[in-house]
Amino acid sequence: MRRTPIAELLGGKYEVLELAGEGGMAKVYRGQTLGAAGFTRPIAIKRVLAPLSQNPEFLKMFVEEARVVSELEHPNIAQIHDFDRDRAGEYYLVLEWVDGLTLAEWREAYRKNGRQTPWHLVAAIGIEVLKALHAAHVHVDRSGNPAPIFHRDVTPQNAMVSKCGVVKLTDFGLARAMDRSSITKPGFVKGKIAYLAPELTYEADPSAQTDLFSVGVVLWEVLAGEKLFKGKDPVKVVGFIRDMEIPSLAEMREDVPARLREIIERALQREPTDRYRTAHAMGRDLAALLRATQEPTDSDVIAKSVDWAQRQLNADNQTEGATKSFPPELALALAGAADETIRDTSIPLTRRTKRQ
Ligand SMILES: Nc1ncnc2c1ncn2[C@@H]1O[C@H](COP(=O)(O)OP(=O)(O)OP(=O)(O)O)[C@@H](O)[C@H]1O
Ligand SMILES: [Mg+2]
Repeated sequence: MRRTPIAELLGGKYEVLELAGEGGMAKVYRGQTLGAAGFTRPIAIKRVLAPLSQNPEFLKMFVEEARVVSELEHPNIAQIHDFDRDRAGEYYLVLEWVDGLTLAEWREAYRKNGRQTPWHLVAAIGIEVLKALHAAHVHVDRSGNPAPIFHRDVTPQNAMVSKCGVVKLTDFGLARAMDRSSITKPGFVKGKIAYLAPELTYEADPSAQTDLFSVGVVLWEVLAGEKLFKGKDPVKVVGFIRDMEIPSLAEMREDVPARLREIIERALQREPTDRYRTAHAMGRDLAALLRATQEPTDSDVIAKSVDWAQRQLNADNQTEGATKSFPPELALALAGAADETIRDTSIPLTRRTKRQ
């Protein structure tokens, strides 16, 4: 049964179905394209929030960035399909729909269940994020000249894990439009600052190393189960980043191998030259670590973990049993079976529509 669209049919073919989330500059809706003979395809529709969509400077940058980013084609990068404006003149982006969870939500599911995220899955997800970044960092323009694209906004909200176990990085380059149009929307700045490399707080240019620092913060947080540079006051958060007081993961997660901590610590070095030189090099170290373990980390394992996490998050007001269930990687170990999954069939598998 088709749902009633909650807004007009955008561009004559994009049907808006439900609100999926809201960030600092946009609202994201789940939608679908309507094609011939009943053909539909799921999409994400990102509508720029009202004050920004009336700012010509922002829009100019946004269009420019969307155009550049649309050249990026990679399995770990959520594609931009279209960019247009509706009848009221409000702009929207049509993106690949990632049917799954943000890393922030995935981490929250484990926290809610009183558990820690499996380190080997965190490393496996990190490898995929780094593949996406590397592809963008070595991007060449149509004439074959190096034209690196830096993400500038690697956060647990912008990395998603799909129900199929595929990792997708979203919002490539869009932060640049915000910066370059000198928008100082407090809500936007607040959420982002905690992932900035220290040199960016001194207005250095973004680089592969600034993105890698952000990856370090994200991996640290997903393992630690808490924010690294926390605080409501952006000025204080900047102070924490500059002081670089990073609590030891060793004390928080005894199970995390020393090598994984070292890799994250290297990404979190104050001096950009002390970090990894490329996203590829960091991914290679994570891959070498995983090869040396017995833990399975293929997309099927990630898919099962996402499935379990969605059930935890959907179980807000539901049965006790649901929140006490074992995550799949633990259930596997307990059952000693290779293909056992958790089956909380009483819990609906709908996507959550609100951000935490
Ligand atoms: N391509 C997508 N597919 C599915 N869901 C998405 C997609 N992009 C975003 N979302 C969902 O919409 C939410 C809001 O996204 P949005 O990019 O507007 O904000 P954010 O990334 O959370 O924060 P910020 O504005 O700081 O970037 C995300 O947290 C995610 O849950
Ligand atoms: Mg986002």
